[in-house]
Amino acid sequence: MPEKLLPPNPPLSDGVILLRPFRADDALDITAACQDPAIQRWIPVIPVPYTEADARRFILMALQSWNDGTRYEFAIADAASDLYIGSVGLNLGPNPRRHAIGYLVAPEARGRGVATRAVRLITRWAFESLAIERLALWTLPGNVASQDVAEKAGFRYEGLVRNWEADRDDRPIDAVMFSMTPADLADDLAEAGDAPAPGRLSSPPDRTTGAPPIARFPRELRATGTRAAPFVEIAAVSDLEPGTMRRVTLADFDLLVAWTEDGIVVSDDRCPHMSAPLSIGELEGCVVACPLHEGRFDLRSGETVRMPTTGGLDADGLYHSPWSPSGTLPRSEPPSKKLAARRLTRVNRLRYYSARIRDGHLEAQLPILPE
Ligand code: FES
Repeated sequence: MPEKLLPPNPPLSDGVILLRPFRADDALDITAACQDPAIQRWIPVIPVPYTEADARRFILMALQSWNDGTRYEFAIADAASDLYIGSVGLNLGPNPRRHAIGYLVAPEARGRGVATRAVRLITRWAFESLAIERLALWTLPGNVASQDVAEKAGFRYEGLVRNWEADRDDRPIDAVMFSMTPADLADDLAEAGDAPAPGRLSSPPDRTTGAPPIARFPRELRATGTRAAPFVEIAAVSDLEPGTMRRVTLADFDLLVAWTEDGIVVSDDRCPHMSAPLSIGELEGCVVACPLHEGRFDLRSGETVRMPTTGGLDADGLYHSPWSPSGTLPRSEPPSKKLAARRLTRVNRLRYYSARIRDGHLEAQLPILPE
């Protein structure tokens, strides 16, 4: 039997939206939202045409299911006005590995990250409140926006599940499956910077094992294609020293493993300027100095702290003239292709790989298969 919960009081909120129980006066807003062709296209359980009577039936079912403990449906409301802008629900299966999340956002509330916020709030609440081993989230194959929400909310892509659902004519349709486990949630909280941060370290060493902390990095700087990648062992923890950097080569990846004052980060061992190996540069606190043109990069934020001596474009495309020590003028140079190349070379931001410690080993999420 699933556990029975009460709606959280005060409601779950991140300051922008809140999740509260449905009210009778949400019916008109729900009816209006469900006229949206995209909602009707991507959510086959929604009746078409959708009437106010459908909305009232849904509200009744949503309130009743809290009493039954069979599913927990929330209205997503604007935190300032408390008005309905969407729905998000946790559907409980008899098996704790079969619980799933579903959601919709009214068309006028889209483009503000409402769905991602709602999925994050309900997911964390679900893991905290229930003994959940796996939470599923599935979408129809063409629903790219919803798949984007799943990934942004920390769910991992699993693949296409054939004939998983039925359309309105009860014909089988495929679904794209995502899931989250308690370990994924812990990784996501750490990556999002939501974990408690005692002292200077973002993640303190494990008191029992002495495992080093893993530093947080800005989630938008995650290396492309790695969110759903497997964790691969890259180094023994006993080989790592605080304040040092090393290169680890796996398949065609040259990785930088740096133990900064915030903890360990894993990124490409390539300077974001002209790809020199950062691992043979200097590490000071969280800042690495490149051995080639003296560019300095903050491994905590991925930002350039000092542009290379060559000058060039920064990550936003702004031109910076060649750097020289204060009080001296940069050397002038006649126009040439080399000069033009330096002017047009952009210093990008670093890209990161999620990392974790398991059984005395540092592992990183890499798009290669573990041996
Ligand atoms: S290659 Fe690193 S600063 Fe130029």
